[in-house]
Amino acid sequence: MHDPRQRLIVALDVSSAAAAQKIVAAVGDSAFTYKVGMQLYTAEGPQVVRDLIVSGRKVFLDLKYHDIPNTVAAAVREAAQLGVHMLTVHASGGGKMLRAATEAAAAANSGLLVLAVTVLTSLDDNDLERVGVRGRVVDQVLRLGALALADGCHGLVSSAHEASELRKELGNDFVIVTPGVRPEGAGYGDQVRVVTPTEAIAAGATYIVVGRPITEAADPAEEAREILGLISLRE
Ligand code: C5P
Repeated sequence: MHDPRQRLIVALDVSSAAAAQKIVAAVGDSAFTYKVGMQLYTAEGPQVVRDLIVSGRKVFLDLKYHDIPNTVAAAVREAAQLGVHMLTVHASGGGKMLRAATEAAAAANSGLLVLAVTVLTSLDDNDLERVGVRGRVVDQVLRLGALALADGCHGLVSSAHEASELRKELGNDFVIVTPGVRPEGAGYGDQVRVVTPTEAIAAGATYIVVGRPITEAADPAEEAREILGLISLRE
C-alpha cells in the first residue's frame, strides 16, 4: 500500500448524519474510509452508509455482530448488499458463527472483509476471570484470533500491543485494524494504551482507526495529513 491514505480509517463517532457529513467534507481527500459504529448507525440507520458509499467513500461498519450463526449470516448479507467494505463480528461468537459470517460474505461476492474482535481493550485479566476465562488477556486474544482466521475471517481488530503478538504467532497473511492511535502529543484520557501511527504500522497494523484527533480538530484535513505523514515513516 503505497498511498498512506489507504491505511487510514476515520471513525465517525457522532450522533447525526449532518455531523458526519461535515467531518467527511472537512477531511476531503485525505481519507477514503470511514468507520460507522453503533452510535451513528443507531441514530441514522443504513442511509448514512449508503450516502457515504454513493459519495465514493468506503465504509467500515463496526457493529460487532454476535448472535446465532443464521442471524449473523443474514446481517452480513445485508451489509454486503449495502456495499460495505469491511465489518466486525465478535470472535467469541464461536467457530460456527464465524464460518456463517465469512461464508455469507464470500457468497455475496462483493469483496466484503469480515474482521473479528477478540477481547475488548476495556477488559483486563481480572475482568476475563469474572466472565469465566482464566489466564492472560493476550492468550485469549491469540486463541480467538487463531479461531477467527481458521474460520475464514480476513483479519482482526486489535491494539498495537496485541498486533505485534498476533503477527509473531499467526503470521502476516491477514489484515489487522488498530484503533487507539494518536499523533504524538495528543491526549485523550479514556484511551488507556495509545500509540502513534508510526508505532501502530511498525507493530503490524494494516489499517489504523483514528477518531477524535481528526474529528474534533480545528482543521481535520490538516490533522489527517499529519497522521498520513506519520504512517509514511513506516511505508
Ligand atoms: O479514541 P478515538 O476517537 O480515536 O476512537 C476511535 C474509535 O476506535 C472508536 O470508535 C472506538 O470504538 C475505537 N476504539 C477501540 N478500542 C480502543 C480505542 C478506540 O475499539 N482501545
